[in-house]
Amino acid sequence: MMINLDLSKVRWSVKHQKEINYDIIVDENIFDPQNKIMLIGGRKKNSRRFVVVDEFIYQLNYEKLKSYFDENHVKSKIVSFQSGEKNKTVENFIRLFKELDEFPIDRRGEPVIAIGGGVVTDIVGFVASCYRRGVPHVKIPTTLMGYVDAAVGIKTGVNFNEHKNRMGSFEPPKAVILNKLFLKTLPTRHILNGLGEIVKLAVIKDLTLFEYLEQDGAECIESKFQNQSGQEILDLSIAGMLEELQPNLYESSLERSVDFGHTFSPILEMQDVNNLLHGEAVAIDVAFSVVLANIHSLLSRSEQERVLDLIRKLGLPYYHQSLKPELLWESLIERTHHRDGLQRVPLPPAIGKCIFVNDIKYEEIVQACNVLENLYSQHG
Ligand SMILES: NC(=O)c1ccc[n+]([C@@H]2O[C@H](COP(=O)([O-])OP(=O)(O)OC[C@H]3O[C@@H](n4cnc5c(N)ncnc54)[C@H](O)[C@@H]3O)[C@@H](O)[C@H]2O)c1
Repeated sequence: MMINLDLSKVRWSVKHQKEINYDIIVDENIFDPQNKIMLIGGRKKNSRRFVVVDEFIYQLNYEKLKSYFDENHVKSKIVSFQSGEKNKTVENFIRLFKELDEFPIDRRGEPVIAIGGGVVTDIVGFVASCYRRGVPHVKIPTTLMGYVDAAVGIKTGVNFNEHKNRMGSFEPPKAVILNKLFLKTLPTRHILNGLGEIVKLAVIKDLTLFEYLEQDGAECIESKFQNQSGQEILDLSIAGMLEELQPNLYESSLERSVDFGHTFSPILEMQDVNNLLHGEAVAIDVAFSVVLANIHSLLSRSEQERVLDLIRKLGLPYYHQSLKPELLWESLIERTHHRDGLQRVPLPPAIGKCIFVNDIKYEEIVQACNVLENLYSQHG
């Protein structure tokens, strides 16, 4: 119960509504100077762009990027950023902030551009949301994680005090530009990393997507999502993600099905920040959560097995040495604070369905750890 205000003391009330409006655009020809897509949201004349680019993408594309802006008479400062979770820090946030301030840009007509994976789009989005209390930004994801998840929403942030995304903001981009050709150079491990989020979405809200993954997932990994079914899986994933995000962009409701796979994973990820990727931690959390859903009398054993089979078939991890009850319980307590005092753990009563649970007990966590450990020792 919230404390009620004595209305007789209220003298002024401020109410304001801001419309959020941004497009997610598919364009596979972004470096062609004739194509103005990367200049979206900006002034036509006397314009500047501060562009932060993932180091790998920078090495491959710096010349193309430079001439794109030069040929369009746009003054650019193109900065390389070394990604990876360990670099999503306040120190790097400040370094980028300083580089931007030394360039600099105007408040409205010169959007900051982020080209990279989730680390680049999260940190650059945060810089944009703080610089002069908010300047526009455009996100161009280059990893599968960015393509289906990190870049399409409005959350920004950096890790702080050994907590994931402890510092951050909600900042809608001007636009998101999707170019799946970037995925061609992505190492298989990072394809699987993004797939962790797609599997999460399938298990908690989309049986059709789940069936696609069972049927074509392996082929999509092989072709790095350049095949026809890869495109269909990408489209279904983004549509499913947006269906959840759009009505609840600022998370006024703390019951979010897309938080499936994100109750136990944050602590696993931060425990092993140099080795475990975000999507890998999510996949392990999904495996743990379906076992937990079975123990909690929600999900049938056969559906639990079906999910675990898919995770194994795709080559995603489903076990980690840090999967210990005390640690997972600590994560659940931390998430309970994050979810304003209730567990609100999304769990599947069936594949493609979600309910929120507030009564998970420590003993169930112990039991689920044992089940998963046994399965791991059987299957490896
Ligand atoms: N804001 C959100 O809503 C949201 C959602 C999901 C995940 N995230 C965040 O995303 C981050 C993880 O993102 P990520 O997995 O993209 O990691 P990342 O940005 O660290 O990129 C992973 C690796 O891929 C390399 N890379 C990038 N593009 C490449 C390409 N096309 N070819 C070859 N290599 C390439 C990078 O150099 C890096 O080494 C996490 O910090 C997570 O918290 C945010």
